[in-house]
Amino acid sequence: MEILGTQKHKIIYGDALEAIKLLPDSSVDLIFADPPYNIGKNFNGQIEKWETEEGYLEWCYEWLDLCIQKLKPHGSFYVMTATQFMPYFDIYLRKKMTILSRLVWSYDSSGVQAKKYYGSMYEPILYCVKDKNNYTFNTNDILVEAKTGAKRKLIDYRKAIPTVYNSEKVPGNVWEFSRVRYRMDEYENHPTQKPITLLERIIKASSNVGDLVLDPFSGTFTTCFVAKELGRNSIGIELQDEYVKIGLRRLQLAEEFKGEILTKEIRTFETQKMATQHNLTLF
Ligand SMILES: C[S@@+](CC[C@H](N)C(=O)[O-])C[C@H]1O[C@@H](n2cnc3c(N)ncnc32)[C@H](O)[C@@H]1O
Repeated sequence: MEILGTQKHKIIYGDALEAIKLLPDSSVDLIFADPPYNIGKNFNGQIEKWETEEGYLEWCYEWLDLCIQKLKPHGSFYVMTATQFMPYFDIYLRKKMTILSRLVWSYDSSGVQAKKYYGSMYEPILYCVKDKNNYTFNTNDILVEAKTGAKRKLIDYRKAIPTVYNSEKVPGNVWEFSRVRYRMDEYENHPTQKPITLLERIIKASSNVGDLVLDPFSGTFTTCFVAKELGRNSIGIELQDEYVKIGLRRLQLAEEFKGEILTKEIRTFETQKMATQHNLTLF
C-alpha cells in the first residue's frame, strides 16, 4: 500500500517529561499513555515506586498537561493507571477535557490473584477528547458481534418489512482481551506489555490512516507497532535501552542500526547524525 511508504516512525530514547516538550503544540492526533502505575513493577532493574502517592500524582499531572498541550484540537487521549489512582486522573482530566468513556479492560487469569479479598482482574482506561463535538470515531472499523443469546437470527417485526436485527454493534465500555502471556507470538520480555488487540481497537477507532499517534511510555512499543501496521505515523518514548531495542526491532528500525543500540554514553556527532537519519532521538 503506497500510503505505508510515506509513514514515519520515531523512537525517542529518553525521559517522557523532557521528550514530550520537544513536540510542537497541537500536533498529535491520538495519544495512548500507559505510564508506570506506582505499584512496584520492575522495569529493566528500575522499580517504579514513588516515595508518596502525592509525588506520583504530581508527576502524572505534569505529563498529563503536556499531553493535552500536544494534542490537536480534535484529538483523542486514552490514559491508563492503577485502579487506585484512576479516580485522581478522572477528577483532574474532567476539568480539562471531555471524558467520553470510562473503559474497563477485563481479562481472565489462571493464577490466584488474592486469597483473602477479590483479586484485580481489570485495568481502567479513560477515553477523553478535547472537543466533544468534533473528534475521530471510526464506528465501522471496530464493530463487534451483538450477542443476543438466541440461536436463530432475531427479526424486527415492527418494521414495514420485517428485517433481521443488526448483528453488529459498537463495543461497550467493558473490553475483554487476554493479557500477553509467555509463549504468545507477540510476547516480549516486559512486565506490563499491552496486547495488540487492545491497541488495534483504540487506534482504529480514534485515528485515521496518516495520522500521528504518540505513546509517551512505550515499553515494548505495542502502540507504535500497531500504528505502523495500520498505516498511521508514530512517536514512541521510552526510558530503558532494553525496551528501546525491542522497539527498534518491532518497528524494523533495528536492521538499520545493525542491532546496535545507541546508548547515552556514545552520543557523538556521528551517532547523532545516524539517529536523525533513522528517526531515533537521543537525549
Ligand atoms: C506500563 S509500561 C508500558 C507498556 C507498553 N504499553 C507496552 O505495551 O509494552 C511503562 C513504561 O514506561 C517506561 N518509563 C518509566 N518512566 C518513564 C519516563 N519517565 N519516561 C519514559 N518512559 C518511562 C518504563 O520503562 C515502561 O517500559
